[in-house]
Amino acid sequence: MNPFQSIYELVGENTIRQLATYFYEEVAMNAELRKRYPEEDLKPAERRLYLFLLQVFGGPQTYSEERGHPRLRMRHLNWKIDGTMRNHWLNAMLAAMDRLSLEPEARELMLGYFVKVANHMINHE
Ligand code: HEM
Repeated sequence: MNPFQSIYELVGENTIRQLATYFYEEVAMNAELRKRYPEEDLKPAERRLYLFLLQVFGGPQTYSEERGHPRLRMRHLNWKIDGTMRNHWLNAMLAAMDRLSLEPEARELMLGYFVKVANHMINHE
């Protein structure tokens, strides 16, 4: 089993929902990041992230039922993502994580996952 898939069991659904909510609150407060998100209303994006994280962290597979295979890197080709943008994204996620009282084990697993995937999302120098 992929180690990230134990996160759902460690923290539960509500914590993952809260993480997505806090993340998009951080996005709304960051001008550089906010202008990457084309939609006026961030709630639909928040729900997609929530369902996606539930799935990769070992919970229900609702994301793929609704959206199909994640193909995350391909979906992100719509936006120019360089190292600076990655840092904005990761900072917003770190701030969101800091607002939750996570067990150290869950925190380390999440952090490892987010750093890895955010690096993988870079598609521009
Ligand atoms: C590194 C910088 C990143 C930027 C600038 C970025 C930006 C975006 C933008 C603008 C969207 C469209 C919002 C929407 O769903 O309507 C999006 C979608 C999404 N992002 Fe990112 N993203 C980044 C990294 C990541 C990472 C690391 C993850 C996962 C851990 C992620 C997960 C998602 C998901 C699940 C969606 C919705 C995909 C869909 O079903 O359409 N993103 N991202």
